[in-house]
Amino acid sequence: MQAQVSRLEFRDAMARVCAPVNIITTDGPSGRGGFTATAMCSVSDDPPTLLVCMNERSAQTGLFLANRRFCVNVLTQAHQHLAAKFAGAISDMGERYDAARWQVMASGQPALSDAIVSFDCVTEAVNRVGTHNVMFGRVVDIRHGSEEAALLYVGRNYMQPTALGSFGG
Ligand SMILES: Cc1cc2nc3c(=O)[nH]c(=O)nc-3n(C[C@H](O)[C@H](O)[C@H](O)COP(=O)(O)O)c2cc1C
Repeated sequence: MQAQVSRLEFRDAMARVCAPVNIITTDGPSGRGGFTATAMCSVSDDPPTLLVCMNERSAQTGLFLANRRFCVNVLTQAHQHLAAKFAGAISDMGERYDAARWQVMASGQPALSDAIVSFDCVTEAVNRVGTHNVMFGRVVDIRHGSEEAALLYVGRNYMQPTALGSFGG
């Protein structure tokens, strides 16, 4: 018989997995949006493709799916305050964007000026899996930025800069 894993067991186990923190932005005919996400990873290098998982209950779901473009901005330690804002500490999108400097990619997508790297994506496919929409983005442009250490999230907390020293930072 297959073992059953509860939602809570899964969430507690995933909380032990260390992940880089990103802000996923979008701009287009349906408006500007942005949210903090750790559920981002590479899918393929040919064609260059990544994925982002977005909770279906997010008020921004329609916006992201309609614009069919998004930008993944990989955060540094200096962006903890910004990650909190884009995770809901501030609800007004204008105020979220006002808290940082942005550049506009050729596609029109907002890239965080001092992100480690920004991936400009065209949404190739969206698969609904359980509670989340998995957005597959074809990477059409890349912008390199800060050399600072990455902002990480583990144990339901941002990793403290002192702990990052052990990574050689
Ligand atoms: C560290 C961290 C990682 C998160 N990762 C994800 C994620 O991968 N996918 C997602 O849909 N929401 C994720 N969230 C939650 C969203 O950022 C948050 O629900 C959303 O921005 C709040 O909704 P709003 O933008 O509509 O106000 C994460 C939140 C935090 C603090």
